[in-house]
Amino acid sequence: MRLRYHHFEKLGSTQDQARALLDQGEAPPFLITADEQSAGHGRLGRTWISPRGNFYGSLAMRPAVDPARYGEYSFLTAAALLSTIGKFSKGDITLKWPNDILLGGKKCAGVLIESCGAKNEILIIGMGVNLRYAPPVQEVPKPTAALWPEAPLDVKRDKRFTKELMKNFIAWHRRYENRGFEVVRNEWAAYAHHLGQPITVETPRERLEGVFTGIDAQGNLLLTQDGETRKVTAADVSLS
Ligand code: BTN
Repeated sequence: MRLRYHHFEKLGSTQDQARALLDQGEAPPFLITADEQSAGHGRLGRTWISPRGNFYGSLAMRPAVDPARYGEYSFLTAAALLSTIGKFSKGDITLKWPNDILLGGKKCAGVLIESCGAKNEILIIGMGVNLRYAPPVQEVPKPTAALWPEAPLDVKRDKRFTKELMKNFIAWHRRYENRGFEVVRNEWAAYAHHLGQPITVETPRERLEGVFTGIDAQGNLLLTQDGETRKVTAADVSLS
């Protein structure tokens, strides 16, 4: 995959900018990054606090798989973020379903998957990484961490981070294309936070309690309650 690259000092959101470029006829795949965002957004309609000093990127591409399988890309991206963050931080890194990266048990990065085009044929993968700034608990629902808290701005270091992330994304994408989702799922499971532990799952409709027993071949969370396993497709997960 050969990616074109566009960097901006300030944007509303790299996701929205990717859509705008697609509307103007820019052909995927391409990556957009911004030093800061004034309207960054995350999953479930949440705000993604985006001051200067962190990483904000959106990768637009045309996946070769059916849109029903686009969720697999959030796991693939989490695997690429895991390898990259591991290279730039010595902390303990785990993955929280469906697409959070935790450092010392606190969220340091997130992935947002959106599709567009008449047949949803284009995927825009949003990635936010707290490099230097971790939003305080008053501003976000869960505790957060940064890779290099309070470190001064360093453009060269940030460029190395972006380059490494794209290298890892391309490598994981190649493995996924050659060997299927299983290889991504295995990596994800090896670093899964809360695996084998009791968790509470909040879905838009209900609150479920059970043991987190794994993710299935489609990336759904498997929750076991009283010997019965049910799958959860999209939810906010927290430890019970
Ligand atoms: C999450 O809710 O955990 C996903 C957060 C994704 C944030 C990134 S920052 C770059 C891109 N632009 C956005 O507005 N959102 C994503």
